[in-house]
Amino acid sequence: MISTPQIEIVGTIPNKKEIKNIISKIINECQSLLKFAYLEKGAQAWDTMRQNTDFLVGNREINALKEISAYLNQSIDFDNEPINFIHLGSGNGIEIPVFTAMFKLKKKDTYIGVDISKELLEILRKNYSEYLSKKVTYSLFFQTDLELKGNIKHVCNKISSHHRAINIIAASGEGTLFSNHNVLKYISDALGKSDYAVFSIDGVATNDVQSICLEYDKTTVREFLIHGIKYAKSVGAVKNDFGQFLPTYYDDNLQQIIVSYKLADGDTVILLKSFKPSNEKVVERIFNKNGLEIVHLAKTKDNAFGILCKKGIF
Ligand SMILES: C[S@@+](CC[C@H](N)C(=O)[O-])C[C@H]1O[C@@H](n2cnc3c(N)ncnc32)[C@H](O)[C@@H]1O
Repeated sequence: MISTPQIEIVGTIPNKKEIKNIISKIINECQSLLKFAYLEKGAQAWDTMRQNTDFLVGNREINALKEISAYLNQSIDFDNEPINFIHLGSGNGIEIPVFTAMFKLKKKDTYIGVDISKELLEILRKNYSEYLSKKVTYSLFFQTDLELKGNIKHVCNKISSHHRAINIIAASGEGTLFSNHNVLKYISDALGKSDYAVFSIDGVATNDVQSICLEYDKTTVREFLIHGIKYAKSVGAVKNDFGQFLPTYYDDNLQQIIVSYKLADGDTVILLKSFKPSNEKVVERIFNKNGLEIVHLAKTKDNAFGILCKKGIF
């Protein structure tokens, strides 16, 4: 079993020239640049913003996790089972204490942080290595792009080959990652029969769409999001990053928040897309369609969803 908490690359990481082509394609296809905002200097910007108590989005999602916790306490007992806890999009690690309490992570369990951003994995290690070492026997850190087919399965296989246990795949505050529904398929594909997946996703209710959009128009949020276009400039995918934010809006059909930026030279790029379902039926439909069977679905007062899943069919 690997026990040194080094960051290991899973899958392949493209070089800067390849990244330039990837980003140009993303811009042409009106996809979101968000995942690049977390890299390099953007990691620090995210860490700062995530600790800002004005930034409510992540907190609503943590509350949704607590609702799932209540269900777990009554219904499922993991006490005697070793767990591989696979934390997707682990960010700066802020939700680790909630997850360790929720699943009562213990010695013999393994925590696995998985993120595209090496810089955020480093921040997480700095802040939580000591905490984790008191809770679990092993901590592992994998850098990979979760939106590329096969990478989540690759992470799970890698862990299972060292340490057979129930895999719990967890993701909180990942509306942006789940705006690409394929990621749900990749998770389903990676789950075994005894495994679970647990998510929390911020939602919108028709009466609060406008206020949620306004949260994304805040200066603090924009100061983070701009790193997506700055990164695109640093690899040469756009000539310069001058421009202005367009007002955030909610696309009812896609059930997604969209933040766009108009470059001074005329092109408009999408800096963020975030899946924010408007009700439970949408959650059920999208998750089932992408191979996840919902075991328990909880909705908080402020419209965030906590979702416990098993592998379904698709
Ligand atoms: C919205 S943040 C949420 C972080 C954390 N879960 C929280 O709530 O504070 C999204 C996280 O997912 C990571 N991420 C985004 N796209 C990714 C991708 N395609 N592959 C791997 N990680 C990704 C980012 O680097 C970031 O850490």
